[in-house]
Amino acid sequence: MANRYYSPDEQRADKVRALFAAIARRYDLLNDLMSLGLHRRWKQRLVQLAGQPCTVLDLCCGTGDFAQRFTGSVVGVDFSSEMLRVAAARATRARWVLADALRLPFPDDSFDVVSIGYGLRNLADLNAGLCEIHRVLRPGGKLLSLDFGKPDNGLWRALYFAHLRFWLPVLGRIFAGNADAYGYILASLQAYPAQRGVQESMERNGFVECKFEECCAGAMAINCGRKPR
Ligand SMILES: C[S@@+](CC[C@H](N)C(=O)[O-])C[C@H]1O[C@@H](n2cnc3c(N)ncnc32)[C@H](O)[C@@H]1O
Repeated sequence: MANRYYSPDEQRADKVRALFAAIARRYDLLNDLMSLGLHRRWKQRLVQLAGQPCTVLDLCCGTGDFAQRFTGSVVGVDFSSEMLRVAAARATRARWVLADALRLPFPDDSFDVVSIGYGLRNLADLNAGLCEIHRVLRPGGKLLSLDFGKPDNGLWRALYFAHLRFWLPVLGRIFAGNADAYGYILASLQAYPAQRGVQESMERNGFVECKFEECCAGAMAINCGRKPR
């Protein structure tokens, strides 16, 4: 079924921006409700995999929930001013920058780590995004992405997709007054290559040591790779 926030064409970015503008104030609450708080554990795992970086770029940072978990110098980038407004109200040391992940306003080789939580799936052009991340990472730097996954097990995948199709829009309607914004998750996931495809795209875009770690039997995944030294 069509979703008003998902469009595979040149309107993709505008629709994604409109989606997050509409739900910015309720975004963090819905994350807790949808995942029963588990997203905190998955985010913490990604932070652990990052090690002790001095400089972190948290891409598609949204309300800053990820960025606040890193120590070191953190820059959060998002193209939604509404999401960044919520981020700016947090008491963190992070610096917030309004910019497009496909055209980052940073020089080459700037960051030790680029983290991206629930962001790659939303980009209008995955390869262009990976290429831009590769450019701003310093040689040897790490990319870590957490996002929805596609479980291998057919039965689990069917149950999980049914949960995304029916239950998330209900939560979205009740708590954010917007069912479509949460129906978007499945629409965007269906078009997203998920853990295996993202690993292949990372390799094609010059990353090495690419691998992924699954959570909840593949319903969530952390993809990881390095820019060669
Ligand atoms: C699902 S939210 C993730 C927020 C946060 N990373 C988290 O884990 O809670 C996705 C965010 O990506 C941002 N986004 C999507 N496409 C973007 C792009 N091309 N450039 C910058 N931000 C983008 C949206 O505005 C939104 O805030």
